[in-house]
Amino acid sequence: MPHDHASASATEGLLVRWSTPYDILLGRLIRRTDDPLLDLADVGAGDDVLDLGTGPGFLARAAASRVGVSGSAVGLDAAPEMIDRAQERASREGSKATFVNAGAQDMPFADASFDVVVSRLVMHHLPGGVKSRAIKEAFRVLRPGGRLVIADLATHSWVELLHDVLGQGRARASEESNPLADLATSAGFTHVSTDAIGILRTISGRKPTDD
Ligand SMILES: C[S@@+](CC[C@H](N)C(=O)[O-])C[C@H]1O[C@@H](n2cnc3c(N)ncnc32)[C@H](O)[C@@H]1O
Repeated sequence: MPHDHASASATEGLLVRWSTPYDILLGRLIRRTDDPLLDLADVGAGDDVLDLGTGPGFLARAAASRVGVSGSAVGLDAAPEMIDRAQERASREGSKATFVNAGAQDMPFADASFDVVVSRLVMHHLPGGVKSRAIKEAFRVLRPGGRLVIADLATHSWVELLHDVLGQGRARASEESNPLADLATSAGFTHVSTDAIGILRTISGRKPTDD
């Protein structure tokens, strides 16, 4: 199951192209965090939600089922294989979620298009400069007052990760400084805070309102 570490000029990130095994093997585990994450982002009826690095679209579909007829849920991923899989799953399940093949660092959306941007297990796929561009893009496409919630592994070391899973099974939310929180603050987000959902560490922020 190779990752494709694409050239910086092309896709700028560690794309996951093995969409079917990802969906089948990891789906059940990953989807347990759908609701806690959407709760943290306060996703509800009427919201327009963007899922950055959606993969097979778990979170986008879960958001679609919350937003009702007046809201929308869009999943974006740089890997066309993931977008194909996400679209296929959404049409099979009758989900209203839609999907776009593009990079998180250069999104094809107008300014102030969404109420909520969520992203799970994606940031560790992005090189540093791309990560900060993606967070700036999230800020741009959010409406004033819009919410950002990013969930990612608290550590990128497999040994530490195994320790977290087998041991306390919960990321340490207040652990030292968090580079993602710093990037969100630099991008302009306010109310930036850190929490944990299982072994994922989350950062949340809000785009200031105009007044
Ligand atoms: C581990 S998967 C997470 C998928 C999904 N968020 C979930 O929770 O199941 C990481 C995803 O990020 C995507 N990705 C990597 N670099 C990207 C980029 N620059 N822009 C958008 N998506 C990217 C990969 O193709 C992959 O689908």
